[in-house]
Amino acid sequence: MKFTVAIDGPAAAGKGTISKAIAEVFGFGHLDSGLLYRAVGIKTLEHGNGILDPVAAEDIAKHLTPEDLRRDDLRTGLAARAASKVAVLPNVRGALLEFQRIFARRDGGAVIDGRDIGTVICPEAEVKLFVTASAEIRARRRFEELKQTNADLTLDSVLNDVRARDKRDSEREMSPMVPAEDAVLLDTSELSIDAAVAKAVAIINERLEQGRD
Ligand code: DC
Repeated sequence: MKFTVAIDGPAAAGKGTISKAIAEVFGFGHLDSGLLYRAVGIKTLEHGNGILDPVAAEDIAKHLTPEDLRRDDLRTGLAARAASKVAVLPNVRGALLEFQRIFARRDGGAVIDGRDIGTVICPEAEVKLFVTASAEIRARRRFEELKQTNADLTLDSVLNDVRARDKRDSEREMSPMVPAEDAVLLDTSELSIDAAVAKAVAIINERLEQGRD
């Protein structure tokens, strides 16, 4: 069976949690496409001793290995910033396209979360969700998550970071972060994550039922 759930939206809106829950409920494979950009970003920084060289980034994207995706420094702020910078490069996006498309159509179903899954990677996805929340609420969630390990962090700096990344992600020329026309919007500022998961599960069940008719 081929069945793709495309989940897009900004950072810290709850995409990851919702995607994992869906994968678990339906037994689908899950790909967090942000990890691909994070791995390219951090490896490119290392390669250039702190400088992001676009040519090196393309080459690194072309030769990314499963091991690169298992690095334990991909969730850092440094990796996030580097990711959003290499993600504006068309050649990097192009190099990562095929892998994501193949994953999306794997047997047994797939959930992919990112920014352009429903619009560019898999416009034919059976279910498209756009998960969002206000910048303030997303910054608060990120702050609560990161403050345990970083005592110097302030809510203001996290909010500035969230806004800067949103701007880069939504204003870039290639594959900007926008909801697909046929995406269902899930706003987690008003909805708990549990309620958002329940809504997503109901939408997928309905679509699976249609496929059986
Ligand atoms: O979801 P995340 O925070 O791990 O994403 C890291 C960066 O990668 C983010 O700035 C946007 C970019 N990204 C993208 O451009 N396209 C995707 N499909 C996934 C992530």
